[in-house]
Amino acid sequence: MALLGVLVRAVIIVVAAAAAVSGSGLPVPGFDGLAIGFYHETCPQAEDLVLAEMREIVQEDRTLAPALLRFMLHDCFVRGCDASIMLKSREKIGERDANSSYSLRGYEQIERIKAKLEDECPMTVSCADIIVMAARDAVFLSNGPRYQVETGRRDGKVSCTIDADNDLPPPGSNIVDLKIYFSVKNLGWKDLVVLSGSHTIGRAQCGSFARDRLYNYSGEGRQDPSLNTAYAPELRKACVAGDPFDKTYVDMDPGSPYTFDLSYYRDVYSNRGLFVSDQALLNDRWTRQYVERMASADSTDEYFRDYAEAMTNMGRIEVLTGDNGEIRKVCGAYVD
Ligand code: HEM
Ligand SMILES: *[C@@H]1O[C@H](CO)[C@@H](O)[C@H](O)[C@H]1NC(C)=O
Ligand SMILES: *[C@@H]1O[C@H](CO)[C@@H](O)[C@H](O)[C@H]1NC(C)=O
Repeated sequence: MALLGVLVRAVIIVVAAAAAVSGSGLPVPGFDGLAIGFYHETCPQAEDLVLAEMREIVQEDRTLAPALLRFMLHDCFVRGCDASIMLKSREKIGERDANSSYSLRGYEQIERIKAKLEDECPMTVSCADIIVMAARDAVFLSNGPRYQVETGRRDGKVSCTIDADNDLPPPGSNIVDLKIYFSVKNLGWKDLVVLSGSHTIGRAQCGSFARDRLYNYSGEGRQDPSLNTAYAPELRKACVAGDPFDKTYVDMDPGSPYTFDLSYYRDVYSNRGLFVSDQALLNDRWTRQYVERMASADSTDEYFRDYAEAMTNMGRIEVLTGDNGEIRKVCGAYVD
């Protein structure tokens, strides 16, 4: 009997997987209550609507593609992928006003996509899933891979500034710290090196890196000796010495700042990664080997496959599913 049960379940999973691939039927069960195509019956047009809205958003302002990709990191690493980053502070200050959220953009765009989905399928699609779908589409619209995402997350009700500042790795992190920040979220060295490749698109403010890399490396009043010596003067020209609040933007991958490609790994390999945390990937045997391989790869195939897998892993961090959490109408507003 038990064997029969296992067989029947296996058949159901295979059939469901085939149906999802052909775009026709049942959701495919995934991790811990998540599923690929979770909204297949309740809001079949959900993923198309998100993509259509993202297309417009990115057309209006291309800098929002990287911003919305980063948004998923800031949601998922802090109390899990539960849209708690969206909640507006009340008496106590929330994640949104944490120091680590300084310069984070995308709040209005997530709310805009949510409003669209509320028109079509009221109280059905969570803000947490919208963040994950928007990040997926941000990558796709930057010429990156388009991969299937698990959905079925629900929205959390708790947001604390201290969690944001504790759980997000600062840009000055070394390789040992980075691996710890990731491992407490159930992510390994491969997720770290693959997801860091997200820095192939977007930009950073001088205040995020100039002190560490240009002016006061390790508090020693000098430039980071590992930084490429031809690249450093360009960065110095852009960033005023000693101003930790300098908001001037610098592209993280200057050759192709809005194209999702392998040039991040060529940058890092030639010591032109922007942050200490990018450079740090050369200080571990496994992450270094990966950087080397991707820097010289002549196809994006392997990287794109790895990226889909690593983003799926990040999308599983501390998710609320089933009866946990809630579906909010307005992502930024507490319901109580
Ligand atoms: C490994 C540890 C990481 C550190 C220390 C880090 C740090 C940072 C910092 C400091 C910025 C610039 C913020 C600013 O000055 O405005 C940034 C930008 C960005 N990060 Fe990361 N990050 C990390 C991992 C990731 C991951 C896993 C992703 C994947 C989603 C990601 C995606 C991005 C994107 C797309 C941007 C550009 C944002 C924009 O242009 O608006 N980062 N990151
Ligand atoms: C942000 O950092 C500053 C300086 O370290 C600190 O005084 C302030 O309390 C922090 N803000 C929050 C919301 O944690
Ligand atoms: C560099 O950092 C050290 C240690 O944090 C500090 O004492 C020093 O004043 C800084 N120097 C400059 C030029 O900012």
